[in-house]
Amino acid sequence: MRSVVTGLGACLPKRIVSNDDLAKMLDTSDEWIIQRTGIRQRHIAGEHEPTSVLGLRAAEAALADAGLTSAEIDLIIVATATPDYTFPSVATQIQAGLGMTHGAAFDVQAVCSGFVFAIATADKFLLSGSHKRALVIGAETFSKLLDWTDRSTCVLFGDGAGAIVLEAREATGTVADRGVLTTQLRSDGRHREKLYVDGGPSTTQTTGHLRMAGREVFRHAVGMVNDIVNASFSATGITGADLDWFVPHQANRRIIEASADKLGIAREKVVITVDLHGNTSAASIPLALATARDDGRIKQGDLVMIEAMGGGFTWASALIRW
Ligand code: ACO
Repeated sequence: MRSVVTGLGACLPKRIVSNDDLAKMLDTSDEWIIQRTGIRQRHIAGEHEPTSVLGLRAAEAALADAGLTSAEIDLIIVATATPDYTFPSVATQIQAGLGMTHGAAFDVQAVCSGFVFAIATADKFLLSGSHKRALVIGAETFSKLLDWTDRSTCVLFGDGAGAIVLEAREATGTVADRGVLTTQLRSDGRHREKLYVDGGPSTTQTTGHLRMAGREVFRHAVGMVNDIVNASFSATGITGADLDWFVPHQANRRIIEASADKLGIAREKVVITVDLHGNTSAASIPLALATARDDGRIKQGDLVMIEAMGGGFTWASALIRW
């Protein structure tokens, strides 16, 4: 069996905030932000657009794309670090929003690597035979976690959601199959201080704000990306030259391009949306997938490598034949 992507959808809040908009409230500039990160703008959720609302819209779009109704889904996994509430999970809220009272729904939390961790989890459920069709959703409202007086972090992030439908289908067991060909997951909790939120229910009883030692994160990022993508290459015998598309987590253009160069992946195969969306954490990969599918780049049968690195640290990759 393979877990095949049969639907894809995305949702971005309407409000767009440009670098120049930020420069009106902070000591920063369009030039600094573009030069260091590649970001030009980000979408910011409104008062009535919590994470579950963005995730629900993306899920509905993915279901419509797959030609399915929620009655045919039996598993919902949401990757998020910005839930509406400490509990219940965003996944159960989306389940209710879809009118579902069957199946199982839960969240996974691996920050920016969350979408890849969620795909790996769903893939294992589908391959075990316990479930048949999963909605895998990355949904975030990082704008709510930011310290809007800290120019070193608040310019980097944005809000949004993306979703895929994964469906168990019989396959031949070769890399010619459509579907998830391998997933590779890693974490190392010693790096907590480099990227974390300084609050939570069992410590401060507040939500807290995102804190990041940006240069330290940058220093580790390229090595971790290489490590995890090479793990997917080793597991499948695929090389950078074989890929049709490299769809990395969208945190920083410099990290993405340095990683692609080291991995022998041609720049024209790299999907970049960080300029338009900023870093949307677990939503960034499905948003980038939707962009490249909608503009005609990603087509059925293409070999697509996704990867991410984020807080924890966590890092992960998945190789998918679309
Ligand atoms: N505008 C203008 N100046 C700024 C800004 C800003 N928005 N932010 C910082 N600066 C200044 C700093 O104060 C510093 O000034 P100083 O030299 O006078 O002290 C100078 O710019 C350089 O600061 P650095 O932090 O060293 O800048 P750097 O080149 O490292 O770029 C950045 C910062 C963009 C954050 C970079 O380190 C980076 O991208 N790191 C990786 C971050 C990342 O990808 N995080 C996501 C991980 S995913 C997740 O799980 C959330």
